[in-house]
Amino acid sequence: MKKTTVISIANQKGGEGKTTTSLNLAHGTALEGYQTLLIDMDPQANSSGIFIQSDSLETSIADVFLQKKKLSDVIIATKYENLSLAPSKINLAEVELAPLNVEAPYVLRDSLVSVQNKFDFIVIDCPPSLSIFTVNALVASNYVIVPLQAEKFSIDGIQGLQNTIESIKRRINPELQIMGALITQLKNNTVLTKTILPVIKNYFPVFQNSISMGVAIGESHLSRQSIMDYNSSVKQATEYSSFVKEVVNELKK
Ligand SMILES: Nc1ncnc2c1ncn2[C@@H]1O[C@H](COP(=O)(O)OP(=O)(O)OP(=O)(O)O)[C@@H](O)[C@H]1O
Ligand SMILES: [Mg+2]
Repeated sequence: MKKTTVISIANQKGGEGKTTTSLNLAHGTALEGYQTLLIDMDPQANSSGIFIQSDSLETSIADVFLQKKKLSDVIIATKYENLSLAPSKINLAEVELAPLNVEAPYVLRDSLVSVQNKFDFIVIDCPPSLSIFTVNALVASNYVIVPLQAEKFSIDGIQGLQNTIESIKRRINPELQIMGALITQLKNNTVLTKTILPVIKNYFPVFQNSISMGVAIGESHLSRQSIMDYNSSVKQATEYSSFVKEVVNELKK
């Protein structure tokens, strides 16, 4: 495995499981003993909200984009051992209104240079859009993981997402690799294997592990915990732990 592995969790469609996957991949790697940084690149600040009251934050990732702070100044420790957070806050949305300059896609990549040697894993929770934040995340990453549901509407945008990833790879970040798609909120295995999986496989490799639909996920968010911390014996906790192992093993290849 390379010294630091930067993984974007991206899908322009909303509600596909980006934040749930980012949180649980980040805590999962931390539980495996890796120093991990979770970067919240979404103005909705959902993953930050697990750890802090983000609207009362003084500094956030927005300050890095507004060139007021260095990334190392906004990173905070979390309640979980080995896991740090670069939190977001609603004012990150203002960054999108600022005039674009030629350096805009590179802000995150440049800011990572100073913290990179402190972490084994950096996991980036992207917003539900192909905005400048998702572009920054993909430009800064070695890998992208695409969480998606096995639903018709979830595969409708898959071509657009693949085009964006491929064009960033071609034009800016040739190192970027698609690690795979992770099926989340799985209800019906037959529909998945018969209808949806073949479509997804046309675009992305698909992880062996998938995540079933279950109320424990919503409950874990409400109690502001990863699913492994909330209840390590629930099905989704076992599935996310296996997914984390699959990611780590993929990197050892
Ligand atoms: N495996 C699951 N079982 C049941 N509910 C789930 C599961 N995974 C995610 N959810 C629920 O689906 C919703 C969307 O999940 P999540 O916030 O992780 O998606 P997202 O892609 O980050 O959304 P957004 O695009 O708004 O950022 C949440 O309410 C979450 O609790
Ligand atoms: Mg989210």
